Amino acid sequence: MKPRVFLTRRIPDNGIELVQSVADVTVWDDELPPPRGVLLKEIRRSDGVLTLLTDRIDTELMDASPHLRVVSNYAVGYDNIDIPGATVRGIPVGNTPGVLTDTTADFAFALLAAAARRIVDGVDYVRREQWRTWGPRLLLGPDIHHATLGIIGFGRIGQAMARRATGFDMKILYHDSSRNEAAEHAMGVGYADLDVIFSESDFISLHTDLNPRTRGLLNRDAFARMKPTAVVINTARGPIIDQEALFEALSSGKIAAAALDVTDPEPIPPGSPLTTLPNCLIVPHIASASFATRAEMARIAAANVVAGLRGEKLPNCVNPEVYEGLIRT
Ligand code: DGY
Repeated sequence: MKPRVFLTRRIPDNGIELVQSVADVTVWDDELPPPRGVLLKEIRRSDGVLTLLTDRIDTELMDASPHLRVVSNYAVGYDNIDIPGATVRGIPVGNTPGVLTDTTADFAFALLAAAARRIVDGVDYVRREQWRTWGPRLLLGPDIHHATLGIIGFGRIGQAMARRATGFDMKILYHDSSRNEAAEHAMGVGYADLDVIFSESDFISLHTDLNPRTRGLLNRDAFARMKPTAVVINTARGPIIDQEALFEALSSGKIAAAALDVTDPEPIPPGSPLTTLPNCLIVPHIASASFATRAEMARIAAANVVAGLRGEKLPNCVNPEVYEGLIRT
């Protein structure tokens, strides 16, 4: 009998077909995530589950299935999954690193440019038929070239953001839990304390994962230390920013603008104060949304499922310590 796998959403076909080649697959075919009850019911009879960042995978779910052998997240981030809980249960968890690095960095830089050069304001202005002539003071914004970019989180995506910024002759500072001197030499970027990042950057771009140390990292105190002209870009995870503090900073002129691909919660509730601010661009978590990248994410997520079902090491495993214990077979 083939193993059973539940896919919590319709990912690109190449991924579904790869999983189907080894398992009986049930796909949750809805735009919205499966309700908790459906997830519980499906996991109960599954050997593997391919999840999205919108699915909370906790120990109750893991315990619902007597034979769950793999959880494969269709994302590089995995803060939606209880990793220690999976590890003690011997369940390997997979993710999709690497393939979305450049696509996400492209988008982060696009947000930076859009917020600085007021692209959305310009589009709205034309759509509202307000464009009457060329104006010397019309829709002005700060320059990107030669400005200082502060990157918080200098992993794959943070470094890819830095590479883009070098093409714009920006001065680049970064902060991370560990220094990367090789990258400093190769790219001409400088390591800086958060204080310096906050006070000296014209643009601050977040590229760290969400963990207890980064939750609420951009809070009232952080915004108070930024330049009144600062622009904040977040393509990482919403809870890294304290949104009440961001609203206060944007509406009082403590900082100039923000561009958010991610919010807390997601989706941002209608009428949420941030959505009313003209200096806050919000888009619906689409930084990795290119055709090629989403197909690659599908391939990797599916390969993780296939390996997990076979009792092999996942090609991209976030809890490799699971292999030190007993894997469920
Ligand atoms: C991720 O992979 O973690 C992104 O947020 C979505 O692609």
